[in-house]
Amino acid sequence: MIKFENVTYRYRDRDDPVLSALTLTIEEGESICMMGANGSGKSTFARIVAGLLTPARGRVVINGSAEHPQPVGMLFQNPDNQMVAVTVEKEVAFGLENLGIPLVEMKRLVNETLQRFRIDHLRQRLTAELSGGEKQRVALASVMVLNPPILVLDEPDSFLDENGKATLREEMARIKVANPRLVEIRITQYPVVARMYPRLVVLDRGVVVADDQPSRIFADHDFCIRKGLAYRLSTGEQPGFAGLEMRSKPPGKGVEVDSVSFRNVAFNHRNGNAVLENISFTLKAGNILGLVGPSGSGKSTLGLLACGLLRPSSGAVVYEDCSGRSVPPEDIPGRVSGLFQLPERQFFLPTCAEEIAFGPRNLGCPHDPKTVAAFFALAGLDAEKFSGRDPFTLSGGEKRRLAFAAVLSMQPRLVVFDEPTCGLDQEGVGRFIRLGRALANMRVGLIIISHDGGIIHTLADRVLYLDGDGSSIQMSCREFFADARCAAVVSPVSPEDTTEQK
Ligand SMILES: Nc1ncnc2c1ncn2[C@@H]1O[C@H](COP(=O)(O)OP(=O)(O)OP(=O)(O)O)[C@@H](O)[C@H]1O
Ligand SMILES: [Mg+2]
Repeated sequence: MIKFENVTYRYRDRDDPVLSALTLTIEEGESICMMGANGSGKSTFARIVAGLLTPARGRVVINGSAEHPQPVGMLFQNPDNQMVAVTVEKEVAFGLENLGIPLVEMKRLVNETLQRFRIDHLRQRLTAELSGGEKQRVALASVMVLNPPILVLDEPDSFLDENGKATLREEMARIKVANPRLVEIRITQYPVVARMYPRLVVLDRGVVVADDQPSRIFADHDFCIRKGLAYRLSTGEQPGFAGLEMRSKPPGKGVEVDSVSFRNVAFNHRNGNAVLENISFTLKAGNILGLVGPSGSGKSTLGLLACGLLRPSSGAVVYEDCSGRSVPPEDIPGRVSGLFQLPERQFFLPTCAEEIAFGPRNLGCPHDPKTVAAFFALAGLDAEKFSGRDPFTLSGGEKRRLAFAAVLSMQPRLVVFDEPTCGLDQEGVGRFIRLGRALANMRVGLIIISHDGGIIHTLADRVLYLDGDGSSIQMSCREFFADARCAAVVSPVSPEDTTEQK
């Protein structure tokens, strides 16, 4: 059993508490789901349950004891954050070694766990070289080998494709049958996931604002919109798009990129493994290309090639201005830009305001503070609150929002968005859709890499499908969704996504 009584938590450099007198009880054997807007305190709650943070005020009782916390298994959003060992076998053994389990017993447990999670064949593989889905399964196995009575899953499926999500669902169902007393806390931003649980707890600024069956909470659509659990596109309100006036003239030499073309592009890894073969397409400013495919099919690699951050092994990536003259790669920075899967990898400055100001200043056309504030607003971040914050201490969704602002502040012509809605609350998803449309209207070209069927359906004009064997098919959005085999790589489109026309 987990009992939070009036728990208040404040991070060291923050004035306002992140959790305020939070009270919540979760019984043995219960599975609950937790949702809430970006920054509402979900991950902080999870870290307190796992014993990684200690609250300043209030009482946390876990399985009857406030002093001797029970082992809690925790799965983070990004499995890379929890991989510690070199090989899969060592990764699974790591927690047991720390507990000083005798060698013979440890070997037995590791073998049994590798088999139970169907990762025996990966035993000697390097953890760094696993695919996202494999990593997720290894992470779950290395947590479950300790047989924790409590399991906390903090958005574990953000980077999984449909196959990976189904596997996680099956694993969890098996785990629950085998451990009926297990307490499961699942944090998610997806209403479809929440609906699979008997109980949904909603956090808002560190306070529980709803605790009920999911269907009853979702029935109050206005409440869900206010709390970041749902979005509405048709209100007509624009989220601070004032800062988004895309420059009509580029900085510097004045060459404007109007299209990017892949001409028979192939890309091999250094070990010779082919990732992409014979890819050809053209994206013009003002159009939106949806890039989809199973995990490991090379979508992010293609995104990096489009931004000029990787060079093709053969073929060419060509940029042209609106009169068809080619634009040399040295004129690309700032005009072609990308927002990649892990936003924190793009941050390197001490404050959020500096992150947003850096790109334009580096390109020789700095923004005044008012424009910087407009880009905060565009991403749905309160400029006053976030300007001086260290980007690395932001919540998952806040980091992604900051990355949007930092990339768009350069006012690029072509942008690659790699899994842009991952980690965003539903308000953020709605905001991204409106932003995508506004950018296309301002003649910005977008490549959107996503597993989210709703995003592809609402935004893309055309879809490039990578099948995982290096080859690709290009089709209209309608053709893509009409082909069941292709459409299976993205999440099902909900009726809300189809009511809005492009
Ligand atoms: N190390 C830290 N130092 C200061 N503030 C922090 C730190 N970690 C988180 N915060 C702040 O605490 C608040 C709650 O963060 P938390 O990560 O718990 O949110 P969350 O609900 O998990 O959000 P998300 O949906 O974006 O993952 C946010 O405003 C965040 O900026
Ligand atoms: Mg979080």
